[in-house]
Parts: sequence; C-alpha cells; structure tokens
Amino acid sequence: MNQTVKHLIDPNDFSVEEINNVVDFGLKIYQNPSKYSTLCQGKILGTLFYEPSTRTRLSFESAMLRLGGSVLGFSDANTTAVKKGESLADTIRVLDGYGDILVMRHPMEGAPKLASEYSTVPVVNGGDGGHQHPTQTLTDLITIKYYKKDVKNLKIALCGDLLFGRTVHSLLKTLSRFENISFYLISPPELKIPKHLKNDLLAQNISLTEVTDLEDCVNDVDILYMTRIQKERFLNEEEYMRLKDSYVLTRDKLDNAKEDLLVMHPLPRVNEIQYDVDDDPRAKFFQQAELGVYVRMALISYLLGVADHA
Ligand code: CP
Repeated sequence: MNQTVKHLIDPNDFSVEEINNVVDFGLKIYQNPSKYSTLCQGKILGTLFYEPSTRTRLSFESAMLRLGGSVLGFSDANTTAVKKGESLADTIRVLDGYGDILVMRHPMEGAPKLASEYSTVPVVNGGDGGHQHPTQTLTDLITIKYYKKDVKNLKIALCGDLLFGRTVHSLLKTLSRFENISFYLISPPELKIPKHLKNDLLAQNISLTEVTDLEDCVNDVDILYMTRIQKERFLNEEEYMRLKDSYVLTRDKLDNAKEDLLVMHPLPRVNEIQYDVDDDPRAKFFQQAELGVYVRMALISYLLGVADHA
C-alpha cells in the first residue's frame, strides 16, 4: 500500500475542510470553466466500471476532458480480462500504469478500498454496491451550496430506499459533520437505514426522525432528497414489486412545501418523481447532475495535486 497517495473511497477520507475546498473550487470552475481547460493537460483518467452508470462515469469523463486531460477505461467488465479470471488486484496493478487517476464502480462493497490498497495512483470510489458513493455526495453538496449558499441550519428529508441506497449513506455520513443539520428519514419499514449507520448518527447527537409518509414532513423541510427503490439490490422480485411505488412525488404534494425548497435526486429516477414536478422551479435534479461535472473537475485536480496552481 502506498501511504502517500490520496484516495476517496469513503466520505470520511476527506476532512470537512477538504470537502469544502473541493466544493468551493468546483463552484469557482463552474463560474469560469475555460480558465481551467488545461489544468490536467497530459494526465489520464481511467474509468473502471463493473456496474452500469450514466452520470458518474460520463461526468468524470467530461470533467477530465474539460480539464484538458484524456480518458480511457471500460464500462463493461465482460469485455476485459476479468472474463478470463483476472483478479481485481492484478487489474489495478496494470491499470495504475495506464492512468494517473482511477475511478471505479463495483457491485461488491469494499472493492474500491481493495483497489486503493494496490494502486500507486489515486483511486476514487464511483459507488460500491449498497455501501458508499462519495462523489455523489460532493455533487449533492455543490448543489446545496449553490442554491442555499451554505451547508448548515437545514432540515433535510431523505426518501425511498434508505437501506441499500449508497447515495443516502454517504450523504448522511457527510452532512452529519456539518453544523445544525437535522434529518427526516422517509422509508417503508423494510428499507430503513442500516442499524450501524443509525447508531453512528445517534452517537453524534444528530437529530433523526423516521417516518413512513412523505406527507408527514414535506412542508417542513428545506431539502427533499428523493431516491429510487433499486430493483438490482433486491434478492426477491416479489418484494421489489410490493415496495417499488412506495413513494411517488407529484406536483400537488408540493403545494404547501416551502417556496425555497430544493427537490433533489441522484438519478436515475424511475417512478418516484412524476414528470409534472420537473417544471416546478424547486426541482433541481438536472442542475444537480450538471454541477456534478464541476465538482468532479475540482476533485480530479485536488487528487492530482494541481488544484493549488489554479
Ligand atoms: N447518480 C448516479 O450514480 O448515477 P449513475 O448510476 O448514472 O452513475
């Protein structure tokens, strides 16, 4: 293991100061992207995606290209030597010679952590199973900071699959380190947040209210963070079918919500936000996906050690 290389595998790998610096740099890039168009010239980003993705992989690629760097990688491990039985450790020991920074998504929890232990270049977790998704959290934070100006004194409702939702796990873990954030956790009883995460949050005296109905809190919150019930995480199709439409946000459900509410979603959505919500000025999920490019530009620059020169 190379102790001197900085990775982002778990949200706690970054201090709050580092998170704020990356988010603020992302906002700076967003205001004037052309100023940073050669910051990573000559650098290569490797994308190792063992699980489907639209936003994470392509926003990382867009980020590196916008920084003047290049990209290589795969979006289907079946087209690689993994199919011939190559181990993850061996793949990493080869690919860290091909790229200057690697982003990895894997269905197995802990796979990016293992990769970081073999890599001589920074490894970024692009989502591991139902575990963590720290760069989605950076995307969420840049969106909150852009629209709310600061990440503090907020009531946030997280709704949907809180058990398997890695975006929710990373976001809760991170926001609990910011000032005066309280949470409503809206889920069916079967999809409540994992016990260990709840215990960690309660041990930090974080305010958590678990509810089953969206209507119980939608008028009281500053941010409504919707998530998809994830078919791919269920072992039992019948159970998925029973729970898949637990929450469907329609425009009329926002009638009495705050005027400056932010409706967020990591995307993709299936049925949990109806299309009539998209035109509501409080719906910011597509802006959220766009801001993800700029925060990833900031992250790549930081991990490659070129942000200080910007
Ligand atoms: N939000 C997110 O991780 O989207 P993708 O699965 O498309 O990467």
